[in-house]
Amino acid sequence: MNNLEIKLPENNQFFTAEELQQFGQKAVQARETLLQGNGKGNDFLGWTSLPETLDPAIVSSIKEDAQRIKSNSELFVVVGIGGSYLGARAVIEALQSELQSLCKDRKAPLVVYAGHTLSEDYYSQLLSVLDNYNYSVAVISKSGTTTEPAIAFRLIKNHIERKYGKEQARQRIYAITDAEKGALHEIACIEGYKRYVIPDNVGGRFSVLTPVGLLPIAAAGLDIDQLLKGAKDMRKVCVEAPFGENPALQYAAVRNLLYSKGKKVEMLINFLPTLRYISEWWKQLYGESEGKENKGILPHSLSFTTDLHSMGQYVQEGERLLFETLISVKNSHSRVEIPSDEKNLDKLNYLISKTLTEINHCAETGTAIAHRNGGVPIVEIHIPEITEYTLGQLIYFFEFACGVSGYMLGVNPFDQPGVEAYKKNMFALLGKPGFEELRKTLID
Ligand code: PA5
Repeated sequence: MNNLEIKLPENNQFFTAEELQQFGQKAVQARETLLQGNGKGNDFLGWTSLPETLDPAIVSSIKEDAQRIKSNSELFVVVGIGGSYLGARAVIEALQSELQSLCKDRKAPLVVYAGHTLSEDYYSQLLSVLDNYNYSVAVISKSGTTTEPAIAFRLIKNHIERKYGKEQARQRIYAITDAEKGALHEIACIEGYKRYVIPDNVGGRFSVLTPVGLLPIAAAGLDIDQLLKGAKDMRKVCVEAPFGENPALQYAAVRNLLYSKGKKVEMLINFLPTLRYISEWWKQLYGESEGKENKGILPHSLSFTTDLHSMGQYVQEGERLLFETLISVKNSHSRVEIPSDEKNLDKLNYLISKTLTEINHCAETGTAIAHRNGGVPIVEIHIPEITEYTLGQLIYFFEFACGVSGYMLGVNPFDQPGVEAYKKNMFALLGKPGFEELRKTLID
């Protein structure tokens, strides 16, 4: 079943039907390259056949571990950066608002994050919070050598071993990393942690449907079977459907077409704050996959109506280099109506009995009309509601479209050579052995 529908900019204001057809053909060719595995970066295509190729024994093991974590932990610390935490956070926060931490009837641990920052104040606070709660930790790094999560894990390992003793701490630590190499792999083997493997042919930002995303999502009390089912159903559509019925091909085609017309910035728009980390995950997916060789659409995101009061002016009247991709969600899980008020001092009685979702949809429609009239093309992605199933669909849709779009752009969507540049300088400045020469050039 495909619950996700795409609506492309309709009129001739931004491009012609012939141009769309031309880019559609390129998208179909790019899909062939992706599926045949004869394009750039083809040793990193393992994600295209997920979740089908995911071993059911791994899924069962994840569910068992999630049960244990739920029974012995009030907090679950996810240590990772970039693709090693954004996918899990995107799904968890889409289904559990930030107010979740205040809910007294929570049935699963609250997930907190580490390894994504070097802020001293953040770790100082986190460690004091961990003093007061029972917790378990997943440390996630494909390379097993990334500095930020390695530092965070050193701090947390030290804390958890002091809190529970080495033996009990070992039972609370889960390591998700390469099968054979990297410092994290070595630590996990020597210390005897429960290990999960990130397949060699799946890059970090495409790894949410492996244990990288699945263990934290399951530990948060969410249904990973439904997530995987959504992804599986969307995979069938992406792989088999012709252009006219294929949202991923259409999305890849239209964004490349708009880019060719000078629309160099894509803003992912939502009207639900719970989708904030879907946007963060999407930005990493597209930014790291396409931003290379001095090319690539700049992925940006806004959350409306909040950001209409900060960035709305620019979108409406600033430089015309933008297009929007709107994630439109039809239904909410709950109902809140505007109550009547006898005095009507706030003049809102015209809204009596309307739900907030109805009001939010009017804001969405009104914004879309205004932005279109202001010269901003809008790609609409419609989903009926936010569930594990529809998130699974959305994730696979964006991943597949990203692979196709990167090939249309002519880059290798599966490497990230630019991410290394800052690391070398940081190592040199910190005095890491092997970086002495670079240190001299930076300090002089
Ligand atoms: O997508 C990617 O490859 C990166 O964003 C990585 O996920 C990120 O740099 C973290 O790397 P690692 O998992 O090796 O610690």
